[in-house]
Amino acid sequence: MTEPTVDAPGGREPITLTPVLTQRWDQPDSFTRRAYEKAGGYKALRMALQRKPEDIIEAVKDSGLRGRGGAGFPTGMKWSFIPKDSPKPTYLVVNADESEPGTCKDIPLMMADPHVLLEGVIITSYAIGAKTAFIYVRGEVLHVFRRMQNAVAEAYEAGYLGTNILDSGVDIDVVVHAGAGAYICGEETALLDSLEGRRGQPRLKPPFPAVAGLYASPTVINNVETIASVPSIVERGADWFRTMGTEKSPGFGIFSLSGHVTNPGQYEAPLGITLRELLDMAGGVRAGHELKFWTPGGSSTPMLTADHLDVPLDFEGMAGVGSLLGTRALQIFDDTTCVVRATGRWVEFYKHESCGKCTPCREGFWWMVQIFDRLEKGDGTEADLDKLLDMSDNIAGRSFCALADGGVAPVVSSIQYFRDEYIAHFENQGCPFDPAASTLFAPESQQEAGVRA
Ligand SMILES: Cc1cc2nc3c(=O)[nH]c(=O)nc-3n(C[C@H](O)[C@H](O)[C@H](O)COP(=O)(O)O)c2cc1C
Ligand code: SF4
Repeated sequence: MTEPTVDAPGGREPITLTPVLTQRWDQPDSFTRRAYEKAGGYKALRMALQRKPEDIIEAVKDSGLRGRGGAGFPTGMKWSFIPKDSPKPTYLVVNADESEPGTCKDIPLMMADPHVLLEGVIITSYAIGAKTAFIYVRGEVLHVFRRMQNAVAEAYEAGYLGTNILDSGVDIDVVVHAGAGAYICGEETALLDSLEGRRGQPRLKPPFPAVAGLYASPTVINNVETIASVPSIVERGADWFRTMGTEKSPGFGIFSLSGHVTNPGQYEAPLGITLRELLDMAGGVRAGHELKFWTPGGSSTPMLTADHLDVPLDFEGMAGVGSLLGTRALQIFDDTTCVVRATGRWVEFYKHESCGKCTPCREGFWWMVQIFDRLEKGDGTEADLDKLLDMSDNIAGRSFCALADGGVAPVVSSIQYFRDEYIAHFENQGCPFDPAASTLFAPESQQEAGVRA
């Protein structure tokens, strides 16, 4: 099958989609072990078991794979921090919490192809010397939890898990764990507390999880997509992986386009692709409208505008324009969207999800919601904007974890790019936008679809 290509600007080679993780998603039985094996699945595991664990770590280091959970930490390096001489067991924990607004790649991956994740889990466990791995799934997605549990049962049946897997002498068990539904439990150390049965709140670092993680034992925590990328690297090599992406951000990634776009969905492409190229493949912004703002990687990454359509979507490109690649959750907002309203909704989310451990985050987002309420109604003043920026300055970097930094990102960036629109609200004594126009549904179908304008 030929993948769609688009002409790249600035004399670059035409960009092609690179389906690796998403390759099997449109097959009706893609989630079964049989379909996975038929497509060559579990071959990488057999290859890995023939190699020394340290060779696998080296191959992942050479590939340049960087964490797909948001921060982009080099994966092979993270694995190599696990002490070799610890008397305690080593654990692998897969972060499948996926609660960031706009982020929607890990859940479809686990639904469509749970075995690619599982194969990655087994190879990674072997590489880091873990006999037990946990997959921490967000509690609300019961269907995903069941799908992963079924896949684990199928893997045990086939001898890919359990004792002496594939006659290698290696023992590995996998536990699928359902969280209770809190965004903060995606933060890796809060996740560990939650997995241990405590209330999920971030831990002080150091010690880092590699030294004292789950049950105070050496632990590697990686995102679903990171671990699912491992089998292809083992099978096809680090050089193959580096043929995609950029020098510092190699490989492929799933870009999730949502919102005011003609064909929303998952587009797996080399890192460094631009939003313009992705929008060309996705049929553009919905008919009759212009792009107004977008997030590169969920609501915690500073928003960008149409001026940034040609900036490479890789870690360096996004940092260069004051944003972050995050989870590649590209939320597209067109000219019908009120940026004050959208930002206010995000701030409400962070207020609700703050774990309450530290004062700037717990109190700060609460006060910000009050300010956004009056701004949206047209009762604010220009002093409120300065207050929001001052509060942002006192929340970010002065709180315990990155939830706080992420929460102020839409506030600061929206005032940076759309100050005039904030001012228009109080000059107009109300929101100048029709909220019904910005939804993806025609107003008459909203009731039917249960959509809140
Ligand atoms: C509030 C908050 C929520 C997070 N949620 C997730 C999540 O749902 N999934 C995820 O993989 N990483 C999440 N992270 C990042 C993790 O702390 C961690 O960096 C990541 O799981 C490491 O995996 P990686 O190196 O494979 O990217 C979150 C971080 C914060 C601060
Ligand atoms: S910054 Fe917020 S979410 Fe993070 S520990 Fe503090 S209160 Fe909890």
